[in-house]
Amino acid sequence: MKSPHLHLPFWIRVPATSANLGPGFDAFGLALDLHNYIAVEPGAPEVPDPFAAEIVDAYHKARGLASKPYRLVVRGLVPPARGLGSSATIRLGMLAALDKLNKRNLDLPWLMETATALEGHPDNITAATLGGFVVCGGQKPARAKISSKLKFVAAIPRIETSTRTARSLLPPSVAFQDAVLNLRNSARIAAAFLQEKYEEARGAFADRLHQPYRAALVPGLEDAIQSAEKAGAIGAFLSGAGPTVMAICLKSESAIGQAMTKALHKAGLESVDTKVLHADNSGVQVVRFLPSSAREARC
Ligand code: HSE
Repeated sequence: MKSPHLHLPFWIRVPATSANLGPGFDAFGLALDLHNYIAVEPGAPEVPDPFAAEIVDAYHKARGLASKPYRLVVRGLVPPARGLGSSATIRLGMLAALDKLNKRNLDLPWLMETATALEGHPDNITAATLGGFVVCGGQKPARAKISSKLKFVAAIPRIETSTRTARSLLPPSVAFQDAVLNLRNSARIAAAFLQEKYEEARGAFADRLHQPYRAALVPGLEDAIQSAEKAGAIGAFLSGAGPTVMAICLKSESAIGQAMTKALHKAGLESVDTKVLHADNSGVQVVRFLPSSAREARC
């Protein structure tokens, strides 16, 4: 189908992301080669869109500009509400598009700060902005590019999870030993990614801070994780707030995808899409043309 927005002068290309990587809750993120393309047009939206309106409002406040209405245009392949950072692509993409329309160059630290304030947690936004693997926090997140040898097998159930609901399930405090396990595991994962020695993270993806509390939202989660690791994955985990289950591997991606899907089917999730992805090491980009693979995405 011919896109009605081919006349737009530029698009902001923003990668999907996977946050947490198991134990690195609200701290780790990585960017994937699956993108949304965001543009804005001056003018009031045909249908009121509170999500986009909040971003436009935050933009004007942060830049000290008088408020004006804009329409959001999204084309791309990042499925919404699946734990793949779709909302981050739109928040970041809209802020970048508004800046570009106002003749500013991409200002990555400002974009990260402003989009994170809207999102409420930094992991998806930081990874989508910088690309690669990130450890968030402070003005200077740690970042490493990710080898093209590393594959990400995403088992994406056709159910939606709200991040707000998934966060509301978390306890106000956790046991000391659970915190220690997460600390140890997340340090091992960071060391493995920063040194590009991914095999060294094998056995370090167990989490006790959020996945156990969110398991009720994704039937078969624990079984899918164990099945992926048995089939050869370096590690597997709930992607962000879910429901996607993500496995990391250097080989055996088909067997890993099948093992995860089987476990999720067994638990009653009948419809599961499997994608084998690689990393995006570029982060947010301004592009002139929309690739033919991009299609309409819901925001
Ligand atoms: N770190 C966030 C969470 C990511 O797990 O709630 C949400 O995509």
